[in-house]
Amino acid sequence: MRRNGLLLIIIVLLMVAITLMIWKPWVVQAETSVSDISAAWAESGHGDYTSESFNHWNEEESGTIPPTCAKCHSGFGMRDYLGLDGSEAGRMDAAARLGSVVSCETCHNPAADAITEVKFPSGEVVPAMGSSSMCLNCHSGMGSGVGTATKIEGMDLDTVSEDLASMNPHYLAAGATLFGTEAKGGYEYEGMTYAGKFEHSANAQTCVDCHDPHTLEVDEENCQACHSNVVDAEDFVDVRMTKADLDGDGDTTEGIAKELDGMREVLVKALWMYSDEVLDNPILFAPDTYPYFFADTNGNGAADEGEAVFPNQYKGWSPRLVRTTYNLLFSVKDHGAYAHNPTYVAQLMYDSIADLSEVISQDLTAGLTRP
Ligand code: HEC
Ligand code: HEC
Ligand code: HEC
Ligand code: HEC
Ligand code: HEC
Repeated sequence: MRRNGLLLIIIVLLMVAITLMIWKPWVVQAETSVSDISAAWAESGHGDYTSESFNHWNEEESGTIPPTCAKCHSGFGMRDYLGLDGSEAGRMDAAARLGSVVSCETCHNPAADAITEVKFPSGEVVPAMGSSSMCLNCHSGMGSGVGTATKIEGMDLDTVSEDLASMNPHYLAAGATLFGTEAKGGYEYEGMTYAGKFEHSANAQTCVDCHDPHTLEVDEENCQACHSNVVDAEDFVDVRMTKADLDGDGDTTEGIAKELDGMREVLVKALWMYSDEVLDNPILFAPDTYPYFFADTNGNGAADEGEAVFPNQYKGWSPRLVRTTYNLLFSVKDHGAYAHNPTYVAQLMYDSIADLSEVISQDLTAGLTRP
């Protein structure tokens, strides 16, 4: 009997020892493990090897991604931009090999940690934003209001020119939105003032305050302390702090995202009236179909079958059409614009509507509020 009791004690002690060796309660566990992070990253857009963003150049004869595109569409390209390949930092020196994504080392490297400022396509430079500085390098867009102004400089506003075409600020330019007039991503009108960086509140100022840097998702728990309506991600669009009825629809309880949508509808209407009344060549806007602007061949203001197709893209651009459609694209191609800097985007849209209203049969700014 005594021998059996001793054996039992030994077995129990052994089991406890094994459990402790596996559990290791004396080691402080990292909040997230590297393998969790890797899995989260692989699920995100940055780690998506099949995305158009990283495969768009596969059929190029050169078999490479041109320098102007590779900075953001290739991990190899960003190595070049940061000077990690031994080339000069802060510029693209060569075309990049195919087959890379935004990988761990694209963001985690000594050059990224040492960033002190970021240059936007307008030429404006903003100070680094801690561990979010890398985000700004790629989410800055490719166009700028300054570039748009230069293109149309000295031209008669309502005369169609062969030299003009639609100008596109490019995609997911969250950094350009967030910094507002400090980055000059939008086409800004002379004599008007524009919102600068959206300071928001503490804990909601930098990219990674709101976005997990690996899943890229926005954690609703980071909003709830201040925006009690936010229960899940679908509620972001219902956040509202602004008192004014920006879009003039009489609803002052809808989210700021919906105020911006309302204003955008007015801008699209103004564009149609302008193209019809002044250029006698009505334009259609189809935000999901490249290149987004098409000829409204039957002049009914709606994108009917066969109208929003590449061969029917809009031709016959006037300077006024170029700058107002540029601002329209700026407001839609950053899907989070309402959270990144709603004031700046509303100001750009309001001023574009006012610009078109100068020459159409109706003042479409009536009822709208410029924040
Ligand atoms: C080297 C360029 C580069 C850097 C640096 C970069 N991004 Fe991106 N980002 C992209 C590209 C390209 C896409 C589109 C990916 C795709 O289409 O699969 C993207 C997509 C996204 C998306 C869309 C969601 C998704 O899953 O596609 C979010 C959000 C995002 N990035 C946030 C960030 C944040 C936050 C940072 C900084 C921590 C950052 N990005 C840094 C290039 C970059
Ligand atoms: C400053 C960074 C940056 C530069 C430079 C850049 N892009 Fe992009 N591009 C992006 C981001 C971010 C996206 C968003 C990806 C998305 O929407 O999935 C994007 C999206 C795209 C898409 C759409 C992909 C899709 O998902 O449909 C195409 C096509 C594209 N870029 C082409 C180009 C070309 C061509 C060049 C060079 C002339 C270029 N880009 C230069 C950042 C950049
Ligand atoms: C788009 C840029 C970007 C990419 C790509 C990226 N990271 Fe990160 N990572 C960050 C940022 C920014 C932080 C710091 C967040 C902060 O300041 O709180 C971070 C933090 C970390 C941390 C610290 C723990 C934590 O959760 O804060 C680890 C570990 C890590 N990353 C590993 C990786 C690995 C492994 C990969 C590739 C699978 C990767 N990262 C890809 C931007 C990136
Ligand atoms: C106040 C919080 C907040 C900050 C700060 C913020 N974002 Fe966002 N972002 C959002 C929300 C909310 C959305 C829209 C909902 C979503 O896509 O999850 C969004 C959307 C995006 C998208 C589009 C995602 C998609 O799927 O199309 C990108 C890209 C993005 N943000 C990048 C950035 C970058 C880069 C920064 C820093 C310059 C930044 N964000 C700063 C909250 C924020
Ligand atoms: C510490 C408090 C705080 C946190 C956390 C916070 N916000 Fe905010 N948010 C505010 C304040 C205050 C404003 C008004 C700022 C202003 O207009 O200058 C605001 C404005 C906004 C707006 C624009 C509303 C409008 O009417 O213009 C949106 C959208 C928004 N927040 C989304 C978010 C999201 C999404 C998160 C979480 C990822 C978040 N906020 C986290 C305090 C916060």
